[in-house]
Amino acid sequence: MTKNVGNANNQASDERVVVQTLAWSDGGLELIDQRVLPQRFTTIRCNSAAAVAEAIRTMVVRGAPAIGCAAAFGIALEARRQCTQNPIAFASALEAAFALLAASRPTAVNLFWALERMRDELARCKSMSATDAASRLVAAAHAIYRADIAANKAMGHAGAALVPDGARIMTHCNAGALATAGHGTALGVVRSARDQGKSVSVIANETRPFLQGARLTAWEMVQERIPVTLVTDNMAAHLMKTGQVDLVIVGADRIAANGDTANKIGTYGLAVLAAHHRLPFYVAAPLSTIDRGTPDGNGIPIEERHGDEVTGYGATRWAPQGVATRNPAFDVTPAALITALITEKGVLERPDEAGISALF
Ligand code: MRU
Repeated sequence: MTKNVGNANNQASDERVVVQTLAWSDGGLELIDQRVLPQRFTTIRCNSAAAVAEAIRTMVVRGAPAIGCAAAFGIALEARRQCTQNPIAFASALEAAFALLAASRPTAVNLFWALERMRDELARCKSMSATDAASRLVAAAHAIYRADIAANKAMGHAGAALVPDGARIMTHCNAGALATAGHGTALGVVRSARDQGKSVSVIANETRPFLQGARLTAWEMVQERIPVTLVTDNMAAHLMKTGQVDLVIVGADRIAANGDTANKIGTYGLAVLAAHHRLPFYVAAPLSTIDRGTPDGNGIPIEERHGDEVTGYGATRWAPQGVATRNPAFDVTPAALITALITEKGVLERPDEAGISALF
């Protein structure tokens, strides 16, 4: 490890997190570089919206809530950078920053949610100097960050009630501390269940092609000594059929108004498998992941990533040159396959439009 950004001791106890994915320090944003975990633990410093947008695009920081928090800090950074400009130049630089960050990744709605919160704050600063507006935007980004940790802890508490002692919990991708401001959504439920004294273990699907399960979920669980078993994605059906999984918990990138849920590619298949084997399939996500403007899953934009992630990983290539690839990064699980949605407002069984609307 080259740098330890864990255990922010200056935080209030309800904001304390073990893995600090994002940290505001000396007017800059430090991000754990998630592309190189677990081989190396390094951080990258961003001082502008462009640097944050690039970090989101290249997956230095990933996971829906973490992307949202990073984008909010991106606006704050840009406001500080531009605050000596005249008001027109300041406004147009911030407009460019909003556009750049909004174009960084398409599926996780938390990105757009956070940018909207920052835009609202900027609108409230209309009569202020650019310097005062910049301070207000920094404070607004911190508020989004703190609210995410609080939401994850509330979600963890609510979700832990669904986890029996001794549960073997399958998860997909990484919906942990690394994917949020801290504690995690799906892994937040696991952490909270463990904190309540339950003996729980995690089965982490490796999550081809970007390996968030193998690299990030496994790393987080090993760091905290929560028992974790790594499997390849195609082992899930066998493990369920032979009674080696008790429940599935995943995170979400965007939940439509009717409860249809976009999450990492492979999640839909897991939900079908869980239904077939009569296992509970839970989605843990904060309200900032719910997109009430999108009626159902058909309207959720699915990011298509480069084929290089399918033909190999890093410097290693296993497929022949010239082969065609597909690389949709997310899929949509129909609401009917979701046993319950775990949010900071509590557990919503069989999520549907009415139930989701009542959360707001
Ligand atoms: O492509 P990624 O790594 O950003 O995808 C992340 C996921 O799909 C997570 O499951 C989701 O964002 C929930 S994170 C709390």
